[in-house]
Amino acid sequence: MELSSRVKGIAESVTLKLNTKAMELTDSGKQVYNLTAGQLPFRPPQSFIEAIRTELDFLKSYQYSPVAGFQDLRKKIIEHIEETRGINFASLDEPFSCVVSNGAKHSISNILGAIIDPGDEVIIIAPYWISYPEMIKFCRGIPIIVASSIFDVFTPPLHEIKKAISEKTKAIIINSPNNPAGIHYSDEWMQEFADLLMEYPHVNVISDEIYFEVCYYDPKPTYFYQKNPELLKRTIIVDGISKAFASTGLRIGYCVGPANICKGIENLQGQLTSSANSLIQRAMMNYDFSSSHQFLVPVKNHLRDNANVIREKLKEAHLMKCWYQPVSAFYYMIDFSQTPVFEKYAKNRKDKTDYSVLICEDILQELGVVIVPGTDFGMTNSARLSLVLHKEAFSEAMDKLVNFLNEGSPKI
Ligand SMILES: Cc1ncc(COP(=O)(O)O)c(C=O)c1O
Repeated sequence: MELSSRVKGIAESVTLKLNTKAMELTDSGKQVYNLTAGQLPFRPPQSFIEAIRTELDFLKSYQYSPVAGFQDLRKKIIEHIEETRGINFASLDEPFSCVVSNGAKHSISNILGAIIDPGDEVIIIAPYWISYPEMIKFCRGIPIIVASSIFDVFTPPLHEIKKAISEKTKAIIINSPNNPAGIHYSDEWMQEFADLLMEYPHVNVISDEIYFEVCYYDPKPTYFYQKNPELLKRTIIVDGISKAFASTGLRIGYCVGPANICKGIENLQGQLTSSANSLIQRAMMNYDFSSSHQFLVPVKNHLRDNANVIREKLKEAHLMKCWYQPVSAFYYMIDFSQTPVFEKYAKNRKDKTDYSVLICEDILQELGVVIVPGTDFGMTNSARLSLVLHKEAFSEAMDKLVNFLNEGSPKI
């Protein structure tokens, strides 16, 4: 049987290859430090677990919910978004709605499926979340990449986004706080982004806010639509429980946006996958979302501690050229091109080859440290580290990493 051309076009993540190698090393008895995790090593809030337990007794927990989700939950989600983002949908003369899906990833693929026609362009900022370009291509859209780098702390200048906008631009995906950079865009940037959007009324925004709650240094994330609420009319906000409730495996995400778009998403979801998990939706109805705030306090302390470990280790090793301050989400991007070891890979200063995968393979083989090559995130000669590992192991892994970055000669 032949695969479709659309599926043949989907890139396989290079991370998988490294994970397989990491497993082989673990099996052979080698100590492996896994810095790839995109999930918290914590149980969800106890009151959420209790809410799930309670719902186990009800028949409705085992039956289909309405396709877009239980009405009361959708209402609660809209109120939650209004409260936490400081916005008011009712003040706009347009109906807004919400669709609950099987994770934020599903929400995003639903949105793209609902708004992209073949040849439409979607702007994304590199380094980007791995799945955006593949999802866009699957919908026969064209990803248009705007680069950012450590020099601008992964916040692209607005004129670069302006340059990328064309008549065919259907949407821009904004992910703040950001995976993989571990930063969120500043309030000033959001103001300028709002101003820019006002110049291009045909451009919609998908605001992926899955890490909204995970910000461990002030100021907190703000958004363009807070600057100009009219922009909500062409914005779809995405969030979910994977990160805020430490519940990646329960697979609930949602989007909130203009009612006509949500209706299209509901129709698509109804035909392709049906409603999301009823048990978890019902538990969410009986859970106080605001208690996640308290739950996340130790999580944020942990991330802040590990962010400090990065700073200390890079400083001690005189590697401050690849340091920036991470403030949110779970990650940090290491720019190999700013480290001495890079000279062992690049043939000369003009060499533009991406050695991310090779360097990450050497790091794994030599040090037993698993990190994700920047190739997957659209950024050359770099890698993503996850800050979720417990502090001692994280610190050990960083010691090994900085030695490698400084001294090099990892090749056999
Ligand atoms: C930026 C970003 N968006 C969306 C998602 C998807 O989240 P979910 O687990 O809810 O599908 C992730 C997951 O890691 C993510 O990092």
